[in-house]
Amino acid sequence: MFKPNLIILEQAESTQDVAKTMAFDGASSGSAVMALHQVRGRGRSGAQWFAPQGKNLSISVVLRPSIEVCRSPLIGMLASISVAEILDNLCHPLKAFLKWPNDVLVQDKKIAGILSEARIVDTSLEFVILGVGINVNSSIVDFPDELRDFLTSCFILTGKTFDLKEVGNRFLQTLGRLFNKLEADGTSFIPSCWESKWLHKGHKLVRDGVKGIATGIDSDGSLLLKLPDGKMLKISSGPLFTE
Ligand code: BTN
Repeated sequence: MFKPNLIILEQAESTQDVAKTMAFDGASSGSAVMALHQVRGRGRSGAQWFAPQGKNLSISVVLRPSIEVCRSPLIGMLASISVAEILDNLCHPLKAFLKWPNDVLVQDKKIAGILSEARIVDTSLEFVILGVGINVNSSIVDFPDELRDFLTSCFILTGKTFDLKEVGNRFLQTLGRLFNKLEADGTSFIPSCWESKWLHKGHKLVRDGVKGIATGIDSDGSLLLKLPDGKMLKISSGPLFTE
C-alpha cells in the first residue's frame, strides 16, 4: 500500500541518497523527499542532472513493489506515465509524450527525466528509489547553452509559474494511484498505458546500425523493434536513435 509522505529539504546533495537512507531505515512505499536546491543531482548513465536553485522539482520516492526483479524497469515507466499525466494538466492544452525508456517530452523537448535505482537482495527486489526531475519554473537562460535547443519547462511552455510543493504532491498522488493498481492487478497494464503516450510508436529507429520499426513494449518494459525480415529485436537497455 502506498502511503504518501513528503519531506521537503532546502538543500540536498542528491535526493536519491536521502531516500536510499530512508529506505534502509525501513521507510515504506510512498515515503518521499524533495529538495529545493539539489547540489549534485544524478541523471541516467552516470550523467549529472542540473536544476537551477528553487525552480525545478527534484524528488525521490521509496517504493517496495511486489514484482519480480526482471520487471523492475516497469517501475520507471510507472513514473514516466505519472509525470506525463500531471504535465498534461499543468501545460494544458499541450500533451506530454514518452521516449523509451522513460524520458518525458513536450513539443519534442525534454521536460522531465527519471532515474530508477533498485536494491536487489539475493533474487528479490527489496526496494526501488525512484528519482524524478521535472523542469517546472526554469527559464531558457537557466539551462546551459548547449542544452537550450533540447530542453523545455512548464514556465517556458505556458508563461506560468507553479508551486513546487504542490507539483510534488500531485506527482505523489498520481504515482500512488498507479502503484496501488500495480499491487492489486499486477504489471500488465503498464506497457499498454506507456505505449499510449509513446512518441516514437511506429517510427523507424536505429540501434547499432540496425534499423527497425518501434512496434511495442514487452511485458518487462523492453522495446520491441521489428526488423525488415519481420523478426522482432528485443532491446532492454542502451541508446536508440531516430533516423
Ligand atoms: C535523467 O537522466 O533523465 C534522469 C534524471 C533524474 C533526476 C532526478 S532529480 C531527483 C533525483 N535525484 C537525483 O540525483 N536524480 C533524480
